[in-house]
Amino acid sequence: MNPLDNEEFRRQGHMVIDFLADYYKNINNYPVRSQVNPGYLAERLPECAPLLPESIESILKDVDKDIIPGLTHWQSPNFYAYFASSTSTASFLGEMLINGFNVVGFNWLSSPAATELEIVVMEWLSKLLRLPQSFSFSGNGGGVLLGTTCEAIICTMLAAREKMLDQIGRENTEKLVVYCSDQTHVCLEKAAKIVGINPENVRKVLTTKSTNYKLSPQRLEESIKRDVEAGLIPLYLCATVGTTSTTTVDPLGPLCELSSKYNMWVHVDAAYAGSACICPEFRHFLDGVEGASSFSFNAHKWLLTNLACCCLWVKDNSALTKPLSTNSEYLKNKATESGQVVDFKDWQITLTRRFQALKLWMVLRSYGVTGLRQFLRNHVKMAKDFEMMVTMDSRFEIVVPRYFSMVCFRVSPHVINPHHGNDHEANEFNRKLLESVNATGIIYMTHSMVEGVFIIRFSVGATLTEDRHIKMAWELVQDQATSLLGTLTPKADSNEKNAATQSPETLLRCDLPATHQYFASLRHTSAGFIDFSHIFEFVEFQFVEIQPFDDPTTHLRPLLKATSAIFQ
Ligand SMILES: Cc1ncc(COP(=O)(O)O)c(C=O)c1O
Repeated sequence: MNPLDNEEFRRQGHMVIDFLADYYKNINNYPVRSQVNPGYLAERLPECAPLLPESIESILKDVDKDIIPGLTHWQSPNFYAYFASSTSTASFLGEMLINGFNVVGFNWLSSPAATELEIVVMEWLSKLLRLPQSFSFSGNGGGVLLGTTCEAIICTMLAAREKMLDQIGRENTEKLVVYCSDQTHVCLEKAAKIVGINPENVRKVLTTKSTNYKLSPQRLEESIKRDVEAGLIPLYLCATVGTTSTTTVDPLGPLCELSSKYNMWVHVDAAYAGSACICPEFRHFLDGVEGASSFSFNAHKWLLTNLACCCLWVKDNSALTKPLSTNSEYLKNKATESGQVVDFKDWQITLTRRFQALKLWMVLRSYGVTGLRQFLRNHVKMAKDFEMMVTMDSRFEIVVPRYFSMVCFRVSPHVINPHHGNDHEANEFNRKLLESVNATGIIYMTHSMVEGVFIIRFSVGATLTEDRHIKMAWELVQDQATSLLGTLTPKADSNEKNAATQSPETLLRCDLPATHQYFASLRHTSAGFIDFSHIFEFVEFQFVEIQPFDDPTTHLRPLLKATSAIFQ
């Protein structure tokens, strides 16, 4: 047996590419969310590993028959759950090269290209994101590719802990406090456990709808003051750009200022939304990052890069490398001793590391900045279109403003119970609605809860999603809502019901308040930031939609009048 026989490598490699090309071609034929029951696979597969070799043909047949049914199809154009994990040909081919070379770049010498390309790519990305010079290798900082945000938070929290304990003494470990908001990703809590922070010293500052679930610097300071008065020591704050539940953005400037007053490390977690910040029109969401100690985002979420690829930058690289460095005799070499090279093993938890930079380099080169921006903007536009359709159906409401490519919505409580609309009943109904939509297998969305309100998250981010998928998804949601509402004891009066089931075109003709409401909702997006281009898109959309029915100017005139009234 030769497990790397050249001819077999070529033949089997081509077979797998063909298999995957067919998978992508037919991806719409699979239910987006897997429909198997727990334990399904053990029933299908043998109890023991095969004694004799099996052919690639028979293995691929079983992948098709047994594995694919148990996949949730994250690359389906109809995947709107969680945050997407966007792939691309460039990244996939990059992964092939990574796996083909299969080098272990723990230090510079173990594969110089792996380290040097990582530095180049991280500097390119840092410039694209307009991160301050202090995050660059030309300052005291630099960037590194890790697997996940969770790792980034563990490493930076450890760096912060060690830096602080050097100043105040190891005996004070129990007094260290870390801060976040109740919207911060749960990986912060996990990191705190791993880093050895007293579990009672993790402060999740409460957020509310009045600030769109942003972390309030005032509330944070109140919490810090209470801790300081109790003799505790503020250590670390995690601020988020694009929270998981609602994609809200914490005010980085004021939070960093406050943290500097209390000598705290600030990590900015932009796992999902960081990618969007390579577009000039979204970069303002990172304003204030210059005051942070570290920043990370996941290229594997929304930058056409395969799992797992978290980009982390720090301002003070020695703070990171001091606690993470190890040096066994067998790793010693002249390059390291010269101090002229970076050994990335000292920037991460593990020793072994993959040549991740190769796929990111291929993505950046294959699509260029222009292509990547277009990809991101297209998703944001599709989310805006979805948001508009939600707003125009008076049965639904947008629960929190949309910032990027995710829309948080629900069927309004007053539609479920016109006399005593309440969140409890609305939650039950929306939960059922989400399940009924997902059970069709046609699309997949997930939910979250904010302040006791169940929200349906429609998160656009899959590479293959197009306008037609968005339209189809919305029609499916409407249809499922209509049939579920039909099962309720009639509560709505007939006029309300009629208005609710009208198409957007009809609604526009007779329901200018809906248009008003839509524009009004835009005003509250991004702290007064108004995207005028969208209004024109909207007008254009209506133009196209109305034209077949009637003279468009008849309808455009009141629409434009309504628009100008709002913006006066
Ligand atoms: C804001 C935010 N932070 C962190 C994470 C966790 O990322 P990872 O799985 O890379 O640790 C997520 C995942 O969706 C996220 O949305």
